[in-house]
Amino acid sequence: MADAAVRETPFDMVGGAATVRTIVDRFYDLMDEQPAYAELRALHASDLAPMRTSLAGFLTAWLGGPRDWFADNPGKCVMSVHGRIAVTAATARQWADAMRQAIADSGMASDIGTRMADALDGMAQAMIRTQPVGG
Ligand code: HEM
Repeated sequence: MADAAVRETPFDMVGGAATVRTIVDRFYDLMDEQPAYAELRALHASDLAPMRTSLAGFLTAWLGGPRDWFADNPGKCVMSVHGRIAVTAATARQWADAMRQAIADSGMASDIGTRMADALDGMAQAMIRTQPVGG
């Protein structure tokens, strides 16, 4: 039905909250366990549970699902929450690679999975700082 197809969001298309949570849990598990992501892991607090909740909430809203993350973080955007983090080319690459792997491991259809991974890769690249934090 054409109308239903028009209203379907990327959030619906990827499988909703369950898929988002699967991706986020895999992403932080990879970050926690794989030596390739050690530099990125070291920037994070020891307890990743709050980040699992926050990143799942952000991705839900970003994909067109419920926008609770923005209500819970008034005035914030995903760029501003990284304002004091010295994102380098290396850590941005680690973030994007871990996310691409987590999406692939989620079993999501490869066409939308690739589009999602490419878009998030671009956002991570845009966060790279060319000036010192505070500068
Ligand atoms: C598309 C790319 C990215 C998205 C969507 C994203 C999303 C998020 C979100 C939602 C939070 C939680 C903010 C909060 O609740 O206060 C967060 C925190 C954080 N992000 Fe990202 N992020 C991205 C890229 C990166 C990159 C490239 C780095 C590399 C350094 C990074 C490092 C961090 C760190 C260190 C934190 C704080 C963790 C902590 O306090 O334990 N992020 N990110």
